[in-house]
Amino acid sequence: MGYGELMIRSYDAQTDRPQVEDLERRCAVAPSKRALLFTDTMGDPICRIRNSPLYNMLVAELDNELVGVIQGSIKLVTIRKLFKDLTKVGYILGLRVTPIHRRKGIGLRLAQKLEEWFIANDVCYAYMATEKDNEASVKLFINKLSYVKFRTPAILVNPVNKPMYHMSSKIDIVKLKIEEAESTYRKFMASTDLFPNDINNILRNKLSLGTWVAYQRGETWCDFGSGNGGVPNNWAMVSVWNSGELFKLKLEKAPLTCLICTKISRFIDSFFSCFKVPSIPDFLSPFGFYFIYGVHLEGPLSGQLVRTLCQFVHNMATMSKDCKIVVTEVGGSDSLRVHIPHWKTLSCPEDLWCIKALKNEDNNLLYECIKSSPTTNTRALFVDPREV
Ligand SMILES: CC(C)(COP(=O)(O)OP(=O)(O)OC[C@H]1O[C@@H](n2cnc3c(N)ncnc32)[C@H](O)[C@@H]1OP(=O)(O)O)[C@@H](O)C(=O)NCCC(=O)NCCS
Repeated sequence: MGYGELMIRSYDAQTDRPQVEDLERRCAVAPSKRALLFTDTMGDPICRIRNSPLYNMLVAELDNELVGVIQGSIKLVTIRKLFKDLTKVGYILGLRVTPIHRRKGIGLRLAQKLEEWFIANDVCYAYMATEKDNEASVKLFINKLSYVKFRTPAILVNPVNKPMYHMSSKIDIVKLKIEEAESTYRKFMASTDLFPNDINNILRNKLSLGTWVAYQRGETWCDFGSGNGGVPNNWAMVSVWNSGELFKLKLEKAPLTCLICTKISRFIDSFFSCFKVPSIPDFLSPFGFYFIYGVHLEGPLSGQLVRTLCQFVHNMATMSKDCKIVVTEVGGSDSLRVHIPHWKTLSCPEDLWCIKALKNEDNNLLYECIKSSPTTNTRALFVDPREV
């Protein structure tokens, strides 16, 4: 295809919003066997990156029609094996091309233009996440743009249904002050891959509902901010982000079992509510969700503490008006996942994260990093709630 008529430019909220929303609707896709959760950005297509330190959305215009879109954000992070204190990374998301204009090189052009914006902003590494069976996306980034496989975290989704979990009386759950949460994260997770240097901004964001720690009753938690803090032998920590304030989800296409469950559950709700049957949320209407981030645990008995914290978040979610799922993302082969309550039908066992060095001199370091990345302990990955 000749590129004469194709223009790539920055998104203009004044004029492009309706067309971008329409494009999102037409581009909704999902692998055939799994559920498709459609994203409703509630009139703000750029909402998914708006909380990042630096962001950009590009559109592809062909004969006055918007035919493609891509978003990107930039931040400073730790990448453990890269021997540098901090690295500037660019995250690519939301690449969409209208179905009738696919395979004409538009997706490739959009991704290249975003990479140019990254380079102009001194970004060393670009990374993106996709479903591993999204052939178009995998081939575009790996075959055409030379990205390499970096991590395969699992996205774990748990429906929020009543009744609430019973909380063990042997475990204490304490909400940390923001300053204490920040110092705890910096102390225990700062060497984690993709740990954001501006963790303070995430914790202070109004979408961040808080950070909680759990430990066995009888042990004590001392404030790190006080300088002489200490931690119990076994403890776990999570933070919660209210993604539903930014955008809503809706089940557009689902495995039959899931649809039947949803419908049966509604039937049960309306006719047998007096029986107190645990109900499955109605996923067919738009709903919000909580994202659990910054999951950390220490000590041989801490798995149970993570489970308790997730149950605590679930109970909190049942009190929210429209939160119907709790989502978290953990390293693919991470033993942590067995402690996180989730529903297999809605979860994704292997999300694919790919990365690319944008400066030649960083290529070898990246190769070393990937080669030496532990495959059995991929917990060392911080999933930024601003990139969900
Ligand atoms: C993924 C997507 C953006 C690709 O856009 P596109 O404009 O069709 O891609 P391009 O024409 O630039 O293709 C570039 C290369 O990607 C690969 N590719 C793209 N579509 C492909 C497909 N359906 N099957 C296999 N490879 C494909 C090919 O290697 C292609 O090069 P080639 O045409 O020389 O073989 C588009 O299919 C889309 O919008 N999909 C739905 C949304 C989505 O899945 N986004 C990705 C989220 S990360």
